[in-house]
Amino acid sequence: MKVGVVGLGAMGAGIAQLCVEAGLETVGREVTAELGEKARGRIEHFLTRKVEKGQIEAFDIGLLSLTTEVADLADCDVVIEAIVEEPAAKQALFVELERVCRADAVLATNTSALSVTEIASATSSPQRIVGMHFFNPAPLMPLVEIVRAELTEDAAFDAAFALGEQLGKHPIRCHDTPGFVVNRVLIPLLNDCVRVLDEARVSPEDLDAGMQHGAGWPMGPCTLLDLVGIDVHLHASEALYDKLREPRMAAPPRLVAMRNAGLLGRKSGRGFYSYDKT
Ligand code: CAA
Repeated sequence: MKVGVVGLGAMGAGIAQLCVEAGLETVGREVTAELGEKARGRIEHFLTRKVEKGQIEAFDIGLLSLTTEVADLADCDVVIEAIVEEPAAKQALFVELERVCRADAVLATNTSALSVTEIASATSSPQRIVGMHFFNPAPLMPLVEIVRAELTEDAAFDAAFALGEQLGKHPIRCHDTPGFVVNRVLIPLLNDCVRVLDEARVSPEDLDAGMQHGAGWPMGPCTLLDLVGIDVHLHASEALYDKLREPRMAAPPRLVAMRNAGLLGRKSGRGFYSYDKT
């Protein structure tokens, strides 16, 4: 089994890490060699930590090869796309993947809020396109949503489900509806949390403590938004609002102001909290 991962940002690198950990030959594609190397460094760091902590015996980073060419994914059995959440960019990529990959290769998207059916509609083989939606941080979160688009055939769906299991995840089956299962619930909930900051005049620290200690969340909503990225959350929120028109899906003005100011969370060094970027 050979897996391709297109886009080695936080999500793609996490997915590639899972593939290497599962002993699968993995081809990672980034737009520049530098970005690819940065992702490889991150993957090696986290897998080395797992060895040091005795969670795994060893890993073979040699299973991961890097490329800047989509053509190098030609012999992959499954390709997982984790690039920017722009429909046109994703459609163009899937058209290219369809051209270079074997006819029986399964093509998966890690989109969190776009329609898999719409992405697949740009291609002439939508039957082999499926959603594989991982959660952030992908190596730590057990869930993967396996999303059946309108024209996905069983062979592709079942192969994506089996790969999810092989990566040690807990896959669930769902259909291509806005936000699928978890984000349909989590995004409006996080928006509620942000609105409560202003309504209840509570600090991010106290809101986080409230949801951790009063509702059993593993991390508070402000910490979680900083982890996911304010821009990523807003993008998903706007995409859901666009489709469902529910007021709770609409982007909270506080988050829009944060995005405009470049306060994107951990990745920019500052969001609700400040982070050391080194
Ligand atoms: N990749 C790989 N390994 C990582 C990592 C990453 N990104 N981040 C941390 N780790 C490793 C670290 O090596 C760390 O160990 P060391 O510090 O010893 O090196 C180890 O994982 C454990 O880290 P933590 O101590 O921080 O782990 P934790 O037990 O506190 O749990 C958590 C962390 C799993 C993230 C937990 O806090 C949690 O479940 N939070 C909620 C996350 C969540 O809800 N995610 C969903 C976001 S929504 C989404 O993703 C949908 C979307 O489409 C936008």
